[in-house]
Amino acid sequence: MSTPWWRDAVVYQIYPRSFADSNGDGIGDLAGITSRLDYLADLGVDALWLSPIFTSPMRDFGYDVADYCAIDPVFGSDADFDDLVAGCHERGLRLLLDWVPNHTSDRHPWFLESRSSRDDPKRDWYVWKDARSDGSPPNNWNAMFKQVPAWTHDEATDQSYLHLFLAEQPDLNWANPAVEEAMHATLRYWLDRGVDGFRADVVNLIGKGTDVDDLPDPFWRFPLLATDRPFGHELLRRIRALLDSYDHEPMMVGEVYLLRDGESASYLGDLDRPELHLSFDFRPLHSAWEIEPMHAALSKMESDFAEPRWPTFVLSNHDRPRHRTRYGTDARARAAAALALTARGTPFLYAGEELGLEDAVVPDERIVDPDGRDGCRAPIPWTAAGDDETGHGWPSRPWLPFPANAATHGADVQLDDPASMHTLYRALLALRRDHAVLRRGSIEFTDPAGALLRFDRRLDEEAVVVLANFSDEPIPWPTDLRAADMLLSTIPGERTVGAALQPSEAVVLRQMRSK
Ligand code: GLC
Ligand code: CA
Repeated sequence: MSTPWWRDAVVYQIYPRSFADSNGDGIGDLAGITSRLDYLADLGVDALWLSPIFTSPMRDFGYDVADYCAIDPVFGSDADFDDLVAGCHERGLRLLLDWVPNHTSDRHPWFLESRSSRDDPKRDWYVWKDARSDGSPPNNWNAMFKQVPAWTHDEATDQSYLHLFLAEQPDLNWANPAVEEAMHATLRYWLDRGVDGFRADVVNLIGKGTDVDDLPDPFWRFPLLATDRPFGHELLRRIRALLDSYDHEPMMVGEVYLLRDGESASYLGDLDRPELHLSFDFRPLHSAWEIEPMHAALSKMESDFAEPRWPTFVLSNHDRPRHRTRYGTDARARAAAALALTARGTPFLYAGEELGLEDAVVPDERIVDPDGRDGCRAPIPWTAAGDDETGHGWPSRPWLPFPANAATHGADVQLDDPASMHTLYRALLALRRDHAVLRRGSIEFTDPAGALLRFDRRLDEEAVVVLANFSDEPIPWPTDLRAADMLLSTIPGERTVGAALQPSEAVVLRQMRSK
C-alpha cells in the first residue's frame, strides 16, 4: 500500500485576513495569498489550510458562516478562488478549506427560517427547547466564550436555541438527517471545485446529545460530557465515506476539542471503520517549554497515535499565543521547530512561525475578537520596514497592529540570511523531504536525564537521532553519539559533533547503525 500524501505532508495554516492584502482595504484576501505562492513553494510546505473564507458577518471572523458555498466578498471573488486553486496545483501545493459544521451564523438563511416559527420546516435544523418552569435556561451549559449561558431565548417563538459559542453562532442539529445531507452537499461543492480536503472545526461537537441535563459543574467551560458520544463517530464515518468516494484522496483533519488528553485519537476510527484522517492533539501546543511536560506531551501523544494511527504536531494556531511568544526566545522557538519537523506525524505550521513572529501587543481599544485572540492573528510583515501600524509590505494600515518583533523579523531581511528563522525552517523542511526516515520512520523516546530530550527515528538501515537541550546551561555530548553525522543544528554557524549542546540547542544527527 502506498503512503497517503497527508502522512508525508507539512501543512501550513493561513489566517487569510492577516496574510497578504491585494487591494489595500487593510484585510488580507485570496489574491494576496495567490501572490505569495512562490514564497510558500520555496519554503517547502506541501499543503495550505485556509481559515474560513465563506460569507460571514465576521462575529467570530469567519467561524460564523452565513453561506457555506460562497466566498465572502472581503476575501475576493469566485474567480480569485479558482486562480488560487490553480496556482496551488501548478506548484504541487494542496489546498484545504476550513469547514465549520457545528454551528452556522445567526444570519444563515437556514437559521432565519428556523427561528421564524415553531412550525417552520427548518425548525429542527437547530436545537430549540422550552425554558424550565421557573423561566431559567433549558440546562446549565455555558457557552465557550464570555461565560454566558449556552442558550438564548427568542421572544418571537418563546423558545431558546443552543449555541456552544456566541449567541450569533447557533448550533446545527445533526440528529436531523436533512442537516447531515445539506452539510454533505457543502463538502461536495468544494471537492468538485478542486479542493484537496478540509480542516473540520470543533468537529466532535456535531455528535453531542442534546437531551443532557445539567452538568455536574456549571463552571466547566465546555459541556464535555455531552459532546463525546457514539453518534459523532457515526457521523464521521459517513463523512469519511463521502471523502473516500473521490479519487484525489481528499483529507480531513479534525479539531477535536475534548480537553481530555489522548481521546482525540479515537476520532480516527479504526481500519475497518475509518473516521477522520487526522485529528489534532494539542498537547505540544499546551505544553510549557520545559523538559518534563514536553517529554510527557510528545511521548504520550506518539503512543496514543501509534500505528495504524498517525499524529499531528501543532505548536501554534490562530487561537493561542504564538510559541515564539510563549517560549520567550528565538533560540527556544528554533529548537521547537526542529522537534515539530523531525518527530513522527504531520506537522501543521501556523503562517509566520517560519519568521519567528511574536504576537502583536494589541491595545484594548483595538481588540476585536470576542475571545481576545487578536495578538496571534497579527498581519504578516513581508518587509522589516514599517512601524506598529503601517508599512511592512502592506498597502495600507491593516485591521490589526503588527507583531511585536516585525521590525527585526520581516520576511525580506530573512530570506538571504543564513542565521534567520526562515532559513532554519527551509533547511528543516528540506531535511524532512530528503530523509524518508524523518517522514516514515518509527520513533522512540528516551526517558530524560536532566534537561536533554532525545528521540530516535528508524527506517530500515537509516537511523536519525534528535536531541534538544531544554536548559540554559550547556549539556555534555552523549557518549554513544560521538561517531554520528551532524545533519542540522538550530544554532547558526559551524557545528561539530562532540562539543557540548548549547542552551536551547537542538540537533539532528544521522547515526551509523550497529548490527
Ligand atoms: C474553533 C476555532 C476557533 C473558533 C471556534 C468556534 O475552536 O479554531 O477559532 O472561534 O472553533 O468556531
Ligand atoms: Ca484586501
